[in-house]
Amino acid sequence: MSPSFSVATTSADRVVADLLAVPIGKGADLGPGADAVDAALNGGLAAFLAEAGFDGKVGETLAVPTGGRLKAKAALLVGIGDPAELSLDDVRRAAAAVARRAGKVTSVATTLATAGTLAVADAAQAVAEGLVLGGYQYLEYKGDATPSKLKRVIVLAAGGAPVKAAVERGALVGDAVSWARDMVNTPSKEKSPVEMVAAAKKLLRGTGVTVQVLDVKQLQAERMGGVLGVGQGSQQAPRFLKMTYAPTGVRGKPLAFVGKGVVFDSGGLSLKTAGGMETMKTDMSGGAAVIAAMSALGALGVKTRVTGYVPLVENMPSGTAIRPGDVLKIRNGKTVEVLNTDAEGRLILADALSLASEENPAAVIDLATLTGACMVALGDKIAGLMGNDDDWAEQVRAAADRAGEPVWPLPLPTDYRKQLESEVADMKNIGGSYGGALTAGLFLQEFVDGAPWVHLDIAGPARAGADDGYLTKGGTGFGVRTLVELARTFAPPAT
Ligand code: BES
Ligand code: MN
Ligand code: ZN
Repeated sequence: MSPSFSVATTSADRVVADLLAVPIGKGADLGPGADAVDAALNGGLAAFLAEAGFDGKVGETLAVPTGGRLKAKAALLVGIGDPAELSLDDVRRAAAAVARRAGKVTSVATTLATAGTLAVADAAQAVAEGLVLGGYQYLEYKGDATPSKLKRVIVLAAGGAPVKAAVERGALVGDAVSWARDMVNTPSKEKSPVEMVAAAKKLLRGTGVTVQVLDVKQLQAERMGGVLGVGQGSQQAPRFLKMTYAPTGVRGKPLAFVGKGVVFDSGGLSLKTAGGMETMKTDMSGGAAVIAAMSALGALGVKTRVTGYVPLVENMPSGTAIRPGDVLKIRNGKTVEVLNTDAEGRLILADALSLASEENPAAVIDLATLTGACMVALGDKIAGLMGNDDDWAEQVRAAADRAGEPVWPLPLPTDYRKQLESEVADMKNIGGSYGGALTAGLFLQEFVDGAPWVHLDIAGPARAGADDGYLTKGGTGFGVRTLVELARTFAPPAT
């Protein structure tokens, strides 16, 4: 459970809390509220910092004794680096460090939102996000679980209603990301397509988002050959989840969010190695991000229509599985020769992008843990961004940047399209040995008709290999913050 947040203008020496967390910049630069801690130490803070070897690096923490001279029971110093260069992501990281150190107390007050030269409301949102995400734990199956005891956070800042709203936004977004993380961390055994649909419905109840679900019969009637083809090898039947956010009085074409929902990717008959499968419960991260983002739109007062599309399948090898060489017919009528059943994400996304395109969206964005090749190119922290429209791509890049989710552009070279030519069908589902992220992107492009479209390959950043800043080892919920930020600030692309 994430803590509840409030905003107060109480001074650092008078605020009542178990822990008071104050920022310290590099070079022992005392941030807001640190003077109160210094006074409690009779001016000995600088000496204490030097003795402890505290450099003020972002996220570094140090507990200080206060000898009962503050209203807060204890104080925690948190590094913020160079205050003049402090970024929102630094604030998230510093707040996350506080959350990790605050698991044994009930209440924390912090002056972090007024550190550096950032706009206070923006920083306050980042403080809330960082505190929720840094405190995230997945304990469902831990016998010796020690859940965080933190219940209340007091953000010390002036600024009134806008700052309050920003803190609420941060907590809300943090909770949405935590939901996505929970779903990604859930073992595949507990998240069949049917169970994913149930979890999504539960989350979306009362959020103003309506849900439509296609079962196998309806998938057949709707000509979703990619979803049916990939799904046919599993005992767990596929589903297609469509979500609609259409607030009253809001007109205009909707934004379309599309997310890959492979609840487990064994590779199918083109079976992965044992090691390659270890993390493949993560393969529904794009879908989870879309569902989670949809859940936050109403509460954030988003004034744009948004439609979410999540194809849900399990990719398994079996007597009923698709075989290399089989041909599938995607919703838009194009035929695909499946030469590698492990290139399954693009097959289900093909149906989803076809459907999304038919519904005349203002712009489309898909999120997918699509290729190992993208991880080779950009590592495991940065998503690959491809698309067919510079204006829309720039809008997505800027939103991701504000949200603190690293993305980097990759090309869609027309010249590589011929790698997808098939002997027997309109195209095949794999390209050559190199540039796999790009040929995957080129494949998807075949199913986008008309609308500005961006593809984010999140194979790397969907999962964290270790605790790092506000990321906790396991599912990261990557993409939720970018989608929310996009919906909040959306302007229809000029083209
Ligand atoms: N889900 C995987 C991509 C992936 C790999 C994500 C590793 C995260 C970590 C995807 O379905 C896949 O298997 N892609 C293949 C495509 C290939 C067969 C053309 C890949 O990247 O190897
Ligand atoms: Mn695969
Ligand atoms: Zn996959």
